[in-house]
Formats: sequence, structure tokens, C-alpha cells
Amino acid sequence: MSAPSRLAAETAGEERLVVGLGARAYDIVIGEGLIADAGRHVRHLLQLPKVAIVTDANVAARYLDQVRAALDRAGIASEAITLPPGEATKDFAHFEDLAERILALGIERSSTLIALGGGVIGDMTGFAAATLLRGIAFIQVPTTLLAQVDSAVGGKTGINTRHGKNLVGAFHQPRLVLADVAALDTLPRRELLAGYAEVVKYGLINDPGGFAWLETNGAAAIAGDRALRRHAVKTSCAAKAAIVAADEREAGDRALLNLGHTFGHAIEAETGFGAALLHGEAVAVGIALAFDFSARLGLCSPEDAARVRRHFAAIGLPAELAHLHKLGRKPGWTAAKLMTHMSHDKKVAGGKLTFILARGIGQAFICRDVAAAELGRFLEERLDAPR
Ligand code: NAD
Ligand code: GLY
Repeated sequence: MSAPSRLAAETAGEERLVVGLGARAYDIVIGEGLIADAGRHVRHLLQLPKVAIVTDANVAARYLDQVRAALDRAGIASEAITLPPGEATKDFAHFEDLAERILALGIERSSTLIALGGGVIGDMTGFAAATLLRGIAFIQVPTTLLAQVDSAVGGKTGINTRHGKNLVGAFHQPRLVLADVAALDTLPRRELLAGYAEVVKYGLINDPGGFAWLETNGAAAIAGDRALRRHAVKTSCAAKAAIVAADEREAGDRALLNLGHTFGHAIEAETGFGAALLHGEAVAVGIALAFDFSARLGLCSPEDAARVRRHFAAIGLPAELAHLHKLGRKPGWTAAKLMTHMSHDKKVAGGKLTFILARGIGQAFICRDVAAAELGRFLEERLDAPR
């Protein structure tokens, strides 16, 4: 990441990154006030001057009128579909309802959907766009930090099932990502923190300077400094765009973006995909566990693992599996149950678990042969750690 002294120059105007995917390349526009100017940004991408906006009730209350007015000024007609907020919406039942409601609008192959909201809305709208009429266009207007730095970019779409997270889905790239950093002003602090876990992830994967920048500036970014937030969104999007352009379908290095997610998804599955533990919170615990496990295997220094945990704790994110006791975790939680969830995760190949481990901060790597017994012992130990 660049030095904070360069930030002043970055605050004026909007910035544009490109996800370089050849014929399917698209822009990520980062700025402030983009939602109120959405019509100008999307108009040239539409085949028909009408769109269907998918959003959730929280986001609709704050931004839907603004978006529709902006589209209207640009001569674009819009219909809106509002879903209930939260991870529980990302299931088959709500997806069926969403699909039927979109079809009821009489969409055509040349229609475009707009996802206005966080990762839940982005993933569901993207999956609807991937599947309805065998594929239509969609645009991401992410309104959470998590969605701006991660889920809106890269084309992974889908829903959760009883067997685990994101197990039904498709790769389907958006035509544009419009990240209005000003929208983060209305995001509850807990949601900001959850998204911040994904920002930290990029530093830990391959950008030790970026992690150090977050140690210095992360708290101020969370507290509301827009220039710092914008810098964090831009560097995160640049990191993700580079990885996606090199490995769109996760045949190789894109798997690094799953740092902390194998542990995290298992924890989320066990907590029932509810508000008790947000996705980003589970990722924070998962990232800390990945570093602790790496240290236990002698791959990374205990100091680096402790530094990761210290940063999450300083920011206010959970970093210990034992934190789940505070959520009133179910009495029956065991390492074996977590490992069962992990075995359903998509990161299983030939019966072996693929984990993203680390040789240090900024040195994540893909490990395809993690020993189940060692992992089980590690998880038991962590579940029993003092509360
Ligand atoms: P979310 O979509 O549930 O949004 C979090 C909450 O914030 C919701 O209650 C929402 O209504 C509210 N909200 C959104 N924007 C707001 C705003 N500006 N002001 C006030 N409230 C606002 O959750 P999320 O954290 O954005 O996304 C999590 C989801 O993203 C998970 O399902 C996860 O699996 C998925 N994800 C997908 C990818 C991918 O590559 N597709 C990557 C990471 C995460
Ligand atoms: N969030 C992981 C990925 O997009 O690959």
C-alpha cells in the first residue's frame, strides 16, 4: 500500500481500476457520491434503458430512492425488489422468491440487474443474473465494506445450503462495480469491522507493507476517515482484481483469497448462518486460526501469529475460537463437527483438505495435504482454551 502522505491526492475525484478479463473485463469505480450519480455510470452499459434493482430492506430505506432518481435522470426506468436483510436470506427459499419476482417483471436476455447492497444481495443477484434466461448482465453497487473490498469483485455468486456456505453458485462477472465509499457512513460499526477482516486478509496474503499500514491506520479508517477508507478499498480491490485476472476460476492462486475461510465457513455453519456471528467475524477467527495452526506446524513464527491476533483484538474483531463461548455456542460443539463442515467445503480435493497457511505475514500459500489428526487436535485445544 502507498504511504498515507499520498492520500490527499487520491481524495479528489473518482478512481477507476480494471479487472482484466479480456472480453469480460470491467471497471471498478471508487469514489464518493457515486450512488447519487449512478445513471451516468451505468447508462452506456445497458442494452435496454431499464433495470431491475435488487436490494435489502436496510439498504432500500437509505439508498433506493437515490439510485432510482439518478437512473431516472439518465432516462433509465427501474423496478425494485427488496429482500429481508441478513445472511439467512441467502438460501434456496429466498432465491426462488427472488427469481420468480425478477421473471414476473418480464425481463429479457438483454436486461440488466443491479445489486444494491452487501455481499448477500450481491451474491444472490449475481446468481440470479447467472441463471435466469441462461444468463443476463448485472452491475454491483456494493454498500458494505465487505462487499466493496471483496464480494462485489471477481464474479463468485451463489447461495448457502444445509451442507454449507456458497455450495450452489456460479462464476458470473458483473459489468461494473460502483463502490461509493460515502455509503459506508451509515454502516453499523459491527458490519464495518466484519468487512475489515477481508481488508486485513490481503495484507496477510502477500502485502506485509499493507498489513503494517493497517496496524497504523486501520483504527482511524474504521472510525470514519474517508480518505483512509478509500485507500483501503482501492488497495483491496487492486489486490483482488490482480488475483482474479490471473486465475478467474480458482484453478490456482485465487484460492489464496480463502485465507481463514475454511475454518470460518465451518464456524458459520455451526452457528447457523445467523446474526450471532457475521461472515467477516468468522473470517477473522479463521484467519487467526490459520496463522496459529501455521505456527503450530512450525511454518510461521509464533510472533507473527500473535501479531495477527493482536491486530484483530485492537480493532475489536474476534480472534479466538473460544470467543464463540460468548455467543452461547451449542454445548455439542466439537472439533469433529467442525471438521465435518470443512469436509463439505469446496476446498476438498481427493479427500484431502486444502488450507491456506502462512510462512509469515504476507507469505500465505496453498497447502493441499493437511493432516486431519493434527488439525483435530489443534481444534480441540482451541475450543477448550480458557474463556
Ligand atoms: P450483508 O449483505 O448481510 O450486509 C450486512 C448488513 O449491512 C445487512 O444487514 C445490510 O442490510 C446492511 N447494510 C448494507 N449496506 C448498508 C449501508 N450502507 N448502511 C447501513 N446498513 C447497510 O453482509 P456482507 O458482510 O456485506 O456480505 C456477507 C456475504 O458476502 C456472505 O454471504 C459471504 O459469503 C459473501 N461473500 C462473498 C464473496 C464473493 O466473492 N462472492 C466474498 C466474500 C463474502
Ligand atoms: N472471496 C474469495 C474469492 O472471491 O475468491
